[in-house]
Amino acid sequence: MEQKDVTLLAGELRLCRVDAVEDGEALRVEVEGRMPLAVYHVDGEFYVTDDTCSHGNASLSEGTVENGQVECPWHVGRFCLKTGSALTFPAVTPIRAYRTIVKDGAVFIHPEDSSS
Ligand code: FES
Repeated sequence: MEQKDVTLLAGELRLCRVDAVEDGEALRVEVEGRMPLAVYHVDGEFYVTDDTCSHGNASLSEGTVENGQVECPWHVGRFCLKTGSALTFPAVTPIRAYRTIVKDGAVFIHPEDSSS
């Protein structure tokens, strides 16, 4: 699934409504002028990372989400959703993970406010 209706409000990017991402799933979000993002919903919490795997060009939003991690659909490298750390080979380079804000029924980030 893919979201394209992104809005910039007072320096925050509104990525999607919370009900656009089922618990245990991820949503790819296209943002004009930058790499796509992935919004994850895990046990009622929301996380946002860059969507493109650091090992190749796989879309992480098509991967498996569990235990606070995403597993890449191509070569099963795993990343921490909170920090973006690469956890298992062949993923060795972290991805950007963003501080995520949930308010007014939607998911926001500050575009430059990431873990790396
Ligand atoms: S493209 Fe993600 S682990 Fe290879």
